[in-house]
Amino acid sequence: MSAPKKLHVKTYGCQMNVYDSERMAEAMGAQGYVTTDRPEDADLILLNTCHIREKAAEKVYSELGRLKGLKAKNPDLKIGVAGCVAQAEGAEIVARQPAVDLVVGPQSYHRLPDLVARAAPGAPALDTEFPDEDKFEHLPKARTPAARPTAFLTVQEGCDKFCAFCVVPYTRGAEVSRPVARLLDETRALVDRGVVEVTLLGQNVNGYHGEGTDGRSWSLADLIHTLADIEGLERIRYTTSHPNDMTDDLIAAHGAQPKLMPYLHLPVQAGSDRVLKAMNRKHSAESYIEIIDRLRAVRPDLALSGDFIVGFPGETDADFEETLTLVERVRYAQAYSFKYSARPGTPAAERPGVAAEVAAERLARLQALLSAQQTEAQEAMVGREVSVLFEKAGRLPGQMIGKSEHLMAVHVPAPDEIKGRIARVRITEAAPHSLAGNLV
Ligand code: 5AD
Ligand code: SF4
Repeated sequence: MSAPKKLHVKTYGCQMNVYDSERMAEAMGAQGYVTTDRPEDADLILLNTCHIREKAAEKVYSELGRLKGLKAKNPDLKIGVAGCVAQAEGAEIVARQPAVDLVVGPQSYHRLPDLVARAAPGAPALDTEFPDEDKFEHLPKARTPAARPTAFLTVQEGCDKFCAFCVVPYTRGAEVSRPVARLLDETRALVDRGVVEVTLLGQNVNGYHGEGTDGRSWSLADLIHTLADIEGLERIRYTTSHPNDMTDDLIAAHGAQPKLMPYLHLPVQAGSDRVLKAMNRKHSAESYIEIIDRLRAVRPDLALSGDFIVGFPGETDADFEETLTLVERVRYAQAYSFKYSARPGTPAAERPGVAAEVAAERLARLQALLSAQQTEAQEAMVGREVSVLFEKAGRLPGQMIGKSEHLMAVHVPAPDEIKGRIARVRITEAAPHSLAGNLV
């Protein structure tokens, strides 16, 4: 028997790409491919790409430039581009980089084995359709034990919100929710393989409206309560959400469902109503804060995370000050912030931008405030007892790393066998990105 073919996947961008990369590896696994961490050993290299900002998208071309040299050593090597850059720029990719053998958009991953077989030298295979069939139904089910006790589960994909800066509605398409029955099956299979925590994924996950087990349309809260009944599943998270879809039942779930973790990523993008309107966010700063207040009323220890864009076209100094004011009011445990990046095809790309130095200065000020808040949130944990799900060994001998309910990394002296289990830990020290403590 010949040696199995090797697949190397490099993933950029969001958690949904991480999930998709695993599904693609399984699809190729069914064709006899094994995965490798080393691109130079691979027979097939897949770049699972991100198109959200220009910098992310440009990385693909520089990586392709580096990888094409490997073809001289292994003439059978095939290189594929998947993900959102593939969707947005498929034809351009093959024109710009002849080393690319195949291009596959996020809705066509079930056709990957076929594309790999079809791709021939000088004749790249391309699929960036939005087919009617459900790609997940056509992807093989994972069978091997999970390497980690946590898993992602895509429950919803696409976005109908059309924020003026964002490519997602174009690259991932319209909102589609997967039926509850399939998600139950997939979650049970994950739990059988040792998974203890699932993070439900969707570009607009709280807009979930999938077919329930009773044939009706179910909300994300309905889905969460049903998944919570699965024995062995201890923790549920979801990301990422839009403020306008924080429905009453979902807010209530944060107070009532013990398996739903007290952590929420709820992007606001900006604190000025003028900018929010220009962004087509369809909510105000005040309505966002009202949602946060209601969430904190039912779950006072909720840790909040957010996304921010500075330097959006038309953003004035006064607008930016309102973003800082909002951040002061909300107090984030953690957050992501970006300089606005004009994306081709989006409405905002047509508008005159803010000077690069101004945007850079605003970003630095915002990040200083957000990181001070993060440090404060971390330090507030010292002396407290928290539940930690242990995920992997730490760098020091005898040290294990896990995540608290608030998604903070915790380093603890503990035996290897604790991996995959939840234990109580008393926090003794805080650093900006991690905590340390001891088992109680
Ligand atoms: N420029 C900068 N940041 C962006 N994001 C989305 N599109 C852009 C853009 N054009 C950010 C938003 C979003 C996160 C995933 O990426 O903050 O919530
Ligand atoms: Fe993009 Fe999120 Fe707005 Fe949808 S809701 S358009 S994914 S930023």
